[in-house]
Amino acid sequence: NWKMEDFIDLQIQNIRNKVGNNKVILALSGGVDSSVVAALLHKAIGHQLTSIFVDHGLLRKGEADQVMKSLHDDLGLNIIKVDAKKRFLDALKGVSDPEQKRKIIGHNFIDVFNSEAKKIKDVKFLAQGTIYPDLIESGVGAAQKIKSHHNVGGLPKDMHLGLIEPLRSLFKDETRALGTKLGIPDELVWRQPFPGPGLGIRVIGEVTEEKLRIVRDSDYILRNEFKKAGLNKTVWQYFTVLPGFKSVGVMGDQRTYDYTIAIRAIRSIDGMTADFARIPWDLLSKISTKICNEVNGINRVVYDVTSKPPATIEWE
Ligand code: XMP
Repeated sequence: NWKMEDFIDLQIQNIRNKVGNNKVILALSGGVDSSVVAALLHKAIGHQLTSIFVDHGLLRKGEADQVMKSLHDDLGLNIIKVDAKKRFLDALKGVSDPEQKRKIIGHNFIDVFNSEAKKIKDVKFLAQGTIYPDLIESGVGAAQKIKSHHNVGGLPKDMHLGLIEPLRSLFKDETRALGTKLGIPDELVWRQPFPGPGLGIRVIGEVTEEKLRIVRDSDYILRNEFKKAGLNKTVWQYFTVLPGFKSVGVMGDQRTYDYTIAIRAIRSIDGMTADFARIPWDLLSKISTKICNEVNGINRVVYDVTSKPPATIEWE
């Protein structure tokens, strides 16, 4: 029954008491939780907080710029953006196993974050956007074991940092309400879930620059069309996947031999189970035409009509 203003005031007091004159670091992913905790800490301690935003090159189109614009330019947060695209792409070269890819992305993320964190003097605390459902989930475990959904947890151990987790008592909707109150724009606050390994698990098999371009550009078209159709508020998660095989098509009078893109759009409450979204045929048709016309290397679009179970939401 508490009011959001009271929550903010109370947390600001708690954070100031705990932090004093010391410095705090945070791994900013661009997701809802880390953005909200960063904005809250900024309000409490300003530039004593340094947020580190690792661009691993597996983000969606425009995502890195949007995070920097909203949180750095508009809200004034102190953010270090690290361009680590090449490092991640090199590390993923020749790797096609999904769990192996997750591990590589996770380890490299932690390494990049740690080496940036160590450059900042006198850091005493690590802030994390842990919310209440994260605490429950890590207790349940069973469903998580199907895939190793690593999130950025328990970072730089050798730095002996105290933890600051002001969102621990909040549910997702409360976290969003808090974000809005703190001035974070809707595009960030109402973001659909996006996996830590990003587009790295939406390119099936080996990740290459060319395949990332295809999945990124097709995903951008899909997201825009869903937004225009008003489906971005009702469909829980939607994205494109590049299965990686080629098939025959025809363009003009020419035979083509190009990639297929799959569209995944699901309804869900918590991601544990899901049903594929019954979206209008006409919309699918429009998206399919646009993707084939505008994304080089695609000559076929398919819609995934599987629920979870037996499929998972992501293809890897
Ligand atoms: P699945 O594919 O397991 O996905 O049905 C359930 C939800 O979790 C997201 N997901 C991940 N999130 N790291 C994450 O942080 C991961 O490795 C990962 N794999 C899947 C997925 O997007 C969906 O929302």
